Amino acid sequence: MLDLHTHILPGLDDGAVDLAAGVALSLRLHQQGITTVVATPHWHSPRFEVEHPGIERAWDALRVAVASQVPGLTLVLGAEHHCSGAEDPVAFVAGIRPLGDSRMVLIELPDDHLPPRAWATVFAVVRAGWRPLLAHPERCRGLRGQREQLAAFVEAGGLLQLTLGHLLGCHGWRMRWHSRALLKRFPQACLIASDSHDLGVRRPQWDRLPTTWRHLVPADLATVSTWGIANS
Ligand SMILES: [Fe+2]
Repeated sequence: MLDLHTHILPGLDDGAVDLAAGVALSLRLHQQGITTVVATPHWHSPRFEVEHPGIERAWDALRVAVASQVPGLTLVLGAEHHCSGAEDPVAFVAGIRPLGDSRMVLIELPDDHLPPRAWATVFAVVRAGWRPLLAHPERCRGLRGQREQLAAFVEAGGLLQLTLGHLLGCHGWRMRWHSRALLKRFPQACLIASDSHDLGVRRPQWDRLPTTWRHLVPADLATVSTWGIANS
């Protein structure tokens, strides 16, 4: 199974605090049945100062440590792009850091509102030939009045990454309700990732994945590229 949204890179954001924590998180994911993990540090988030050299250093360190300590686990480098809606869509597209060598781009919207120009950026990503994947759209309160826009996004090939802990109800009934509502409305466009940060409150919980949702977890990145197309 693939986990395409994790914060295992050490010392960059609110994910793994150090290399040992990153390895421990990687080991836990593998023990829970994950064979490929995409490291998706926050990128251009107003909350964190994550720069390219820092990502490279963290990636190199974790890759070496995981190769020796969790040899069955494949690591892939990606990013979780913050879309504020204030950025120039052309600049956003120029700075894309995809999931590995795929055409998939993980995009996070603000939790508390949907900026007026956010869709302009998201659809610029589509026009440029990338496939956007909205990170935990169940968290974005501004999306809740955007049924038609979400339908257009899905129609254009966009995907919705629901967070396993939200679906399971580990972060309150609202997240549980909104994530399941999206799954019910857009079943072909949804897939599940852990958005793991640590071994505490935001820990991976793949061992609690119901068998009825197993088909919502991709096997690998190649599967994601055709997600909802191959399944439809
Ligand atoms: Fe995340």
